[in-house]
Amino acid sequence: MIKNYKINGIFKGKDILSLNQFDPKSIGKLFKTTKKITKLLNSGKKINLLSGTVTALLFYEPSTRTFSSFSSGIKKLGGQTVEYQNPMQTSSSVKGETLEDTIQVFSNYANAIVMRHFQTGAAKTAANVSHLPIINGGDGSGEHPTQALYDIYTIYERFGKLNDLVGLICGDALYGRGIHSLIRALSLFKNNTLYLLAPKILRLSRADFSYFINCGIKLIEIDNEKEIPKNAHFWYWTRIQKERFKNEKEAEKVNKQFISRFTVTKNFLKKYGNKNMILMHILPRVGEISTEVDNDPRSIFLTTQVKNGMYIRMALIALVLGKA
Ligand code: NCD
Repeated sequence: MIKNYKINGIFKGKDILSLNQFDPKSIGKLFKTTKKITKLLNSGKKINLLSGTVTALLFYEPSTRTFSSFSSGIKKLGGQTVEYQNPMQTSSSVKGETLEDTIQVFSNYANAIVMRHFQTGAAKTAANVSHLPIINGGDGSGEHPTQALYDIYTIYERFGKLNDLVGLICGDALYGRGIHSLIRALSLFKNNTLYLLAPKILRLSRADFSYFINCGIKLIEIDNEKEIPKNAHFWYWTRIQKERFKNEKEAEKVNKQFISRFTVTKNFLKKYGNKNMILMHILPRVGEISTEVDNDPRSIFLTTQVKNGMYIRMALIALVLGKA
């Protein structure tokens, strides 16, 4: 049930649907809890924070990291999960059950529901019919709040601040829900500038662009690598969301052009990057970053960024269930 939409420092019982719910204080609390949980984990002690709780993971769209990091993180904290991947093939959804009905049924089995769905707004729909906290693990081309929360945690760990930052986001700004949440997240802090490098047809929708600008972030849209700022703190690469195109051929064409022009290679990084930046990727990567830069100390997309994903999600679940 969407009762108190805004977090305002209190996570217990809240849905996590959008970065719009957050403010710097709530993000600070999440980071603090994440640090605590990471410490506990590294101490090697058995953790029972979530014992006696069951979290349902309902994933209507493919997922590797969001699904597995929640699943693993919850178990590491002593909690249990009920897991449904592909409900469209394996559950009553196949027989035509509505999302609303499925969510109400699962509300009897669990203490919280993490869900991913192909429809923008599906998590909100679920929150409207469930008394349990609903955590949005990605809704269509809408938002992906848990992704953005660990992305900014990663940036914060590296630079010790979330304001006065310059970032470069490259890829599918139109359909990329991770990008939408990341921009919104950084707009909660002061004096951040984001350069958006996207194929023309995959720029942010004009409505999203104006909305984010009104939230207080500076957005600079570029379509040429030569315009990449030399002082970026981070680069954030994403893939083209081919599955969201209406025309498959066009998706292939746009993707091919994108990859041939904007793949991060050693040379690209040398030419347009700087020494102190970090190189992030939302994953999965499908050619946007060449494996030849994987061992570059700036590449953190398969290491720190992924690890932080699990830690942030552990903290978030513990907070929402009122166990931290
Ligand atoms: C993303 C997603 O599913 O939104 N993956 C993820 O959760 N890291 C991005 C993508 O699929 O490209």
